[in-house]
Amino acid sequence: MRVLVTGGAGFIGSHIVDALVARKHRVIVLDSLHPQIHPTGRRPAYLSAKAGFVRGDVRTRRILADLIPRVDAVIHQAARVGVGQSMYEINEYVDANTRGTALLLDVLTSVRNRVKKLLIASSMSIYGEGSYRCPSCGPVQVRDRREEDLKRRRFEPYCSRHRKILRWERTPETKSIVPTSIYASTKRDQEEMCLMIGRAYGIPTVAIRYFNVYGPRQALSNPYTGVLAIFGSRLLNDNPPLIFEDGGQARDFVHVRDIAAANLAALERAGADGCAVNCGTGRPVTVRQVAEDLARAMVKSIRPVLLGDFRVGDIRHCIADNREIRRRLGWTPRISWSNGLAEYAAYLRTQTAVDRVDNAIRELEQRRLRRKSSR
Ligand code: UD1
Repeated sequence: MRVLVTGGAGFIGSHIVDALVARKHRVIVLDSLHPQIHPTGRRPAYLSAKAGFVRGDVRTRRILADLIPRVDAVIHQAARVGVGQSMYEINEYVDANTRGTALLLDVLTSVRNRVKKLLIASSMSIYGEGSYRCPSCGPVQVRDRREEDLKRRRFEPYCSRHRKILRWERTPETKSIVPTSIYASTKRDQEEMCLMIGRAYGIPTVAIRYFNVYGPRQALSNPYTGVLAIFGSRLLNDNPPLIFEDGGQARDFVHVRDIAAANLAALERAGADGCAVNCGTGRPVTVRQVAEDLARAMVKSIRPVLLGDFRVGDIRHCIADNREIRRRLGWTPRISWSNGLAEYAAYLRTQTAVDRVDNAIRELEQRRLRRKSSR
C-alpha cells in the first residue's frame, strides 16, 4: 500500500514508518518539524531514507489535497502532545489536534481518493483516572481526586462511602471517557471524529489508544514529553529525577516498536475496523520504580528526589486491559520492561540532552499547575 504518515518524523511516527518500510509499503511522511521536537529544523537522520518526505503542517488544506489522492491509507500521528503545556496553550492544542484532524477529514471526504484505511493515534489520557474497585462495594468511578486530599498527601483514590483505599483494575475500552486536560479532550475529539466520519463514509477506521509510550527517539530536550524521557535527560545530565506525589502512581509503559506493530496490524487486518482499542501491556510500573530501574540501567547511582508536590490533572493509576486488541488484531506486546529499558539506556548513552525540566516545572508553578502538599 501507499501510506501517508502524518507526524512521521516524530517519535512514534518514525517507528511506524520503519515498520511500514520493513513490510514493503510505500510511505509518504508529512511533518512540520516543530521546533520543540526538532530544534535543528532538519529532517531527522533516523527517518528511513525509503520514505518520501513533505515538510508541512496538517492544517494546510493545499498540502493535504495534494497528498491524499496519492495514497491508500492514512496514519494520523501529527499532534501537539504536552499534557501540562496543553493547559496554557489551549488554542494551539485545539487548533493543531482537533482542527487539524477536522481538516484532514474534510479533505478525505471532499477530494477524490482511494483511501481504504484510516488510523488515528488516540491516548489513554481520555479515560482520566483508570478503573478502580472498592473492597466493599465493587467497581467505583473515580472522577477527580480532591485537592484537599492531595495537599494532605492522600494520593490514593478512596471510596467515599467506606473510606477504604480503592484497588486499581485494568482499564477496558468501555470505561467512561473523562478527559482531565485539553490534550486529552483533543484526543477524544480526534478519535470520535475519525470513527464517526469513517462510519458515515465507509472508510475502515481504527483508533488506537496508546498507553505510556517509551523508547528510542523520544525527544529528550522536550520537557513536556513522557516521564521516561524526562528522567532520562535528568540522569544523562547527572541530575536526580524529580518525582511528583509519592512515586507510588503506576502507569503502563509500552515500547514504541510494539505500538508500531499495533498500527501495522490495524492497517493490514480488518478485525478492529470501526473500533477504539487499547494498546498497552497490562503491566503496572510505579514512577519510583521508573526512576530506580532507569538509573540502574544507565549505571548511575543517582537517587530520585521525592517532591511530594502534585501536578494538577494528574491521574493516579491507569493500566491497560488489552484483551480487545489481542482478540481483534492478534497483537501482543513483545518487548519486556527489562529488555526495553536496557535498550533505552543504551540509546541514552549515545545522546546529549539539554535538561530543561527545571524551566518546565517553574512554568507549571507560575501557572499554578503544580501545587504543594504539606510536609
Ligand atoms: C500523559 C498522558 C498521556 C501522554 C503522556 C506523555 C494523561 C492521563 N496521560 O500521561 O496520554 O502520552 O502524558 O505526554 O494525561 N512525573 C514525575 N516527574 C516528572 C514527570 C512526570 O513524577 O518529572 C510523574 C507524573 O506526575 C505522573 C507520571 O510521572 O504521575 C507519568 O507522567 P507523564 O509521563 O507525564 O505521563 P502521564 O501523565 O501518565
